[in-house]
Amino acid sequence: MLHRTQVVIIGAGPAGLLLSQLLHRAGIDCVVLERRSRAYVESRIRAGVLEHGTVALLEQAGAAERLHREGLPHDGFSLALDGETFRIDVRALTGGRTITVYGQTEVTADLIGLHVARGAPLIFEAEDVALHGVTGSQPSVTYRHQGQARELACDFIAGCDGFLGVSRSAIPEERRQEFQRVYPFGWLGILADTPPCDHELIYSNHARGFALASMRSPQRSRYYIQVSMQERLEEWPDERLWDELAIRLGPAAAARMTRGPAIEKSIAPLRSFVSEPMRHGRLFLAGDAAHIVPPTGAKGLNLAAADVGLLAEALAEHYAGHGDSGLDHYSERALARVWKAERFSWWFTHLTHRLPNMDGFALRMQISEMIYLRESRAAQTVLAENYAGLPMAAAGHGYGAPPAAAS
Ligand code: APR
Ligand code: PHB
Repeated sequence: MLHRTQVVIIGAGPAGLLLSQLLHRAGIDCVVLERRSRAYVESRIRAGVLEHGTVALLEQAGAAERLHREGLPHDGFSLALDGETFRIDVRALTGGRTITVYGQTEVTADLIGLHVARGAPLIFEAEDVALHGVTGSQPSVTYRHQGQARELACDFIAGCDGFLGVSRSAIPEERRQEFQRVYPFGWLGILADTPPCDHELIYSNHARGFALASMRSPQRSRYYIQVSMQERLEEWPDERLWDELAIRLGPAAAARMTRGPAIEKSIAPLRSFVSEPMRHGRLFLAGDAAHIVPPTGAKGLNLAAADVGLLAEALAEHYAGHGDSGLDHYSERALARVWKAERFSWWFTHLTHRLPNMDGFALRMQISEMIYLRESRAAQTVLAENYAGLPMAAAGHGYGAPPAAAS
């Protein structure tokens, strides 16, 4: 069966869902194809810090009602060095910008709810999704649904299918460049229905490794510790994990920490990754399909949102007959912002984690940087403006030109 739409969106993570909602608001037709079930997508647990720009996009998408009711506005966060904390006043250091703590799980549920309410074409359990003719004028996407083969003809394809999706590989290898760092440790996370130990987040650099105290609501806490990727979940019963958190977060946080049974516990690897360019013909990549950041600083969802904000604007310009300059500059502009967030997430990870091969010099460099941050308003300002989120750059950065052909 052949159907037609203007934009096919592959993937119903935050990138695909937000793009679909923004396009709907701009009067552009699209279909979202998702490999997993709705229940699976709605139960994934990810980070939970939204930049002001992300909140503004969710407002534009008409998806911020519950976020404004239940999201927790934060003016800053704390850093800890061997258990001693100091505060980064993001609001004061950035001229009034704040961040909002609201789980990515909730963002996803809100966006799916809006799609279902308006009967939007959001197809779960779409199998064997394949892209065709992306460099021609009539691309299409084939897939199987409930045992039937389907085909969608379209003007554009948005690859929002995450790091393990199929879209990125529709760009031939010789037209693509990949950049990657895999970190020699992971994050062990625990979610519990207990009040958080502080009203803001605490990122802790400790001799035993990194720890983070975060939250989802005034009744639900989220914590992480750095572990080696060789560790297994069975080695971390709840009590051992709470004991370790108490040591790494320091005595003040430990005294206010409420222990409780884990409602979710998992180990995630840390990776930095960028694939350039983010456009190939009529295919546009957005979110984790094009880039991954380590979770330190919670930039993943915010980067995905910034990508689709830019892409939605460019597509709206195209369909309004205002030309293709936005589409032509999409990759370069998105990548300019992506690389800054990559740099920040990489730096913040190195500042706060103990690497297995750190020698005395490396350790003293790290500790000196933490102490400098504690004492210098200038250093804190750099951290705060990156944490709050950088603006989208103008065109003209030249990122993502295809690699020169080998001669
Ligand atoms: N066909 C259809 N859908 C697919 C396919 C495929 N072949 N492969 C993957 N998908 C779906 C996944 O099941 C997932 O629901 O694409 C979606 C991609 O979603 P995310 O991985 O959440 O990526 P993205 O929407 O870019 O969101 C970025 O989410 O992964 C976190 O840390 C990341 O916070 C960041 C944000
Ligand atoms: C989270 O709450 O899951 C979280 C918060 C901040 C981060 C990463 C994850 O930097």
